[in-house]
Amino acid sequence: MAVKKIILYPNPLLLKTSTKIDKFDENLVTLSKHLIDTMYDADGVGLAAPQIGINKRIFVMDCSREDEEKDLRIVINPEIVNESEELHLYKEGCLSIPGITEEISRPKVIEVMYQDINGVTQRKTYDNLWSTCFQHELDHLNGKLFIDHLRPMKKLLVKNKMNKSSKKDR
Ligand code: CO
Repeated sequence: MAVKKIILYPNPLLLKTSTKIDKFDENLVTLSKHLIDTMYDADGVGLAAPQIGINKRIFVMDCSREDEEKDLRIVINPEIVNESEELHLYKEGCLSIPGITEEISRPKVIEVMYQDINGVTQRKTYDNLWSTCFQHELDHLNGKLFIDHLRPMKKLLVKNKMNKSSKKDR
């Protein structure tokens, strides 16, 4: 097991745009293992490389329910090629913003392209929680967090709440 430290908002590494991956080598396999171990250890449904301090375009996700088999996806250089007008509302949280959950609405169905760990292009359709999770993790690769989807006033309230709780921790 290689569980890495998850970096927390407002660490500036979370706000950077990550770079495209072009080498599908052993280092990438190691990075994906770090992400997988760290995500499962934290009971998360998704984890993006910037959250362990690596600004590269890779994330992992597993939105299977507890009564289902594990269903892990390693997603590299993702793109959304199509999205539904219909939206899906979900109470999101983020391992980098502990203690905060907010309802966010995002396209319910998305068609995506990405590369797998072998560099093979995958084209898939995701809906509901899988769609929300994919979009949330892709946002991380663009330096965007789920709280950036909130209205400005709401975002301010959340930020104040975060500041208070991080001061308490010190
Ligand atoms: Co997140």
